[in-house]
Amino acid sequence: MLLSLYNVMSSPPSYHTKVLCKYRVIVGVAVIFFVLVFFNQTYLNSQSFDSNIFTIKYQQRLVEPKETATNLSHLMFVLVGGSSTWRDRKVYVESWWRPNKTRGYIFFDVEPSEEFQPWSRALPPLKVNEDLKKLKIYPRLRNRIHTRIYRSILENYMLKQDEDVRWYVTGDDDSVFFVDNMVDVLSKYDHREKHYIGMFSETIKSNFYFSFDMAFGGGGYALSYPLVEALVEELDNCIERYYYIWGVDHLQSMCLADLGVDLSLDKGFHQLDLRGDLSGFLSSHPTAPLVSFHHFGSLEPIFPSMDHPGSVRHIMKAANVDQTRIVQQSICHVRATSWTFSVSWGYSVHIYEKIFARSYLKRPIETFRPWLRGRPPLYMFNTRRVSRNPCEAPHWFFFDSIEQENDGVVTSYTRKFPRNMTSCSFFGNTSADPLASIRVFSPKTPKPGRKVECCDVGYEGADVANIRLRDCRRHEIIA
Ligand SMILES: *[C@@H]1O[C@H](CO)[C@@H](O)[C@H](O)[C@H]1NC(C)=O
Ligand SMILES: *[C@@H]1O[C@H](CO)[C@@H](O)[C@H](O)[C@H]1NC(C)=O
Ligand SMILES: *[C@@H]1O[C@H](CO)[C@@H](O)[C@H](O)[C@H]1NC(C)=O
Ligand SMILES: *[C@@H]1O[C@H](CO)[C@@H](O)[C@H](O)[C@H]1NC(C)=O
Repeated sequence: MLLSLYNVMSSPPSYHTKVLCKYRVIVGVAVIFFVLVFFNQTYLNSQSFDSNIFTIKYQQRLVEPKETATNLSHLMFVLVGGSSTWRDRKVYVESWWRPNKTRGYIFFDVEPSEEFQPWSRALPPLKVNEDLKKLKIYPRLRNRIHTRIYRSILENYMLKQDEDVRWYVTGDDDSVFFVDNMVDVLSKYDHREKHYIGMFSETIKSNFYFSFDMAFGGGGYALSYPLVEALVEELDNCIERYYYIWGVDHLQSMCLADLGVDLSLDKGFHQLDLRGDLSGFLSSHPTAPLVSFHHFGSLEPIFPSMDHPGSVRHIMKAANVDQTRIVQQSICHVRATSWTFSVSWGYSVHIYEKIFARSYLKRPIETFRPWLRGRPPLYMFNTRRVSRNPCEAPHWFFFDSIEQENDGVVTSYTRKFPRNMTSCSFFGNTSADPLASIRVFSPKTPKPGRKVECCDVGYEGADVANIRLRDCRRHEIIA
């Protein structure tokens, strides 16, 4: 029986479905037969009963048709915006949206003002949300704006544009998505099952006040299509049941929990409940593909001497060439001078005048503040304090330009401000002060499943360092 099913699996697709139907009937008959036999033979011991059930399940799994790999066309983006903030936030959507490639809609409270008409083709098509007043619970709603936002999922579904959609991805008008990485992350999950994928906030307080079990909406989250189908039937009931909940993403997590689905965490989604200078955070990103950013407008621009729109376009220059590497951290040691280089690809390079282990450099330098002030512990991760000690404080270089070569990519990083410190070395002859720029050579990314990379350093004159990223050697310790 098993063998013949295997043969069916490897036959050509057209023939496939018809034969499969026949086999479904056969499997169905077999199941009924087994069940009848078991009911008559109550003296069967539990062990053999279990093994027979296993056989039946296994056979059913084999009959499932083979699925193609998930790509961008399988994702439906459900974005929400507000007419009052659109002027400042439009740039964030434009930075990542790929016309005619990304699918989805952006939902507004009212039609945006005339200056945005006609609606640009470079943006997601525009929809205006339904009037909430038709809901019975309307007068009691705690947060009408969030309820409107929440119903966008239902309204998007009712557009009936979901052919071949495997995932719904939600986001705000100030969310920035790295869509190739999003596809890579979602491909790891079976879209035919119910999945809810996202990340909690970086700050402990936000999670404590809302929930540790919810995906924060600004960082975006993904729902597999079977989960969307189950959700849309219940969505208005959830609003009635939880009319007193303030946050839309909080409400969502409660509704999904009631449907039996809990959050799967992915470290690439970023709510960014942080303020101030994000550079320390982005220089020590976890080893996970960068999927999203939020709150860009509330943080300082991520590149020195650039404004918000400029800095988001700037990081996209690198992300559009090699998204799997963006902000991935690689560390190389130069024993001769006792220096450590830490590369955050497409964003920054640090030089420390001392040897540091990767386990230490993985911790972000706390250049930022939490969204809500308070006493430590503040963050969901460990940090390093900003230091004025020349042996602890790095020289900072920021991403400047990118070039593609035949067999790889060269990213350049330049020093934007002097370190203003003495050398760490006692003799004072190993200062990195003369270095003005750093070039990082990276091979074309092999897909899928990239790992941490190692690197070697060379010099070109006194002011340029060349870093070559490469696979780590077997047993190479990156410390
Ligand atoms: C995505 O996958 C579908 C099959 O599900 C295929 O038809 C389509 O051509 C693919 N698109 C791209 C851009 O690879
Ligand atoms: C998208 O497709 C439409 C129709 O197929 C075409 O008119 C338009 O120029 C395309 N837009 C872009 C940005 O490629
Ligand atoms: C170093 O000193 C210069 C000039 O005094 C100043 O502009 C710069 O901000 C200082 N850099 C740092 C990292 O403190
Ligand atoms: C720095 O100076 C000390 C003492 O003169 C010397 O031993 C050491 O080799 C020098 N280091 C480098 C990298 O030149």
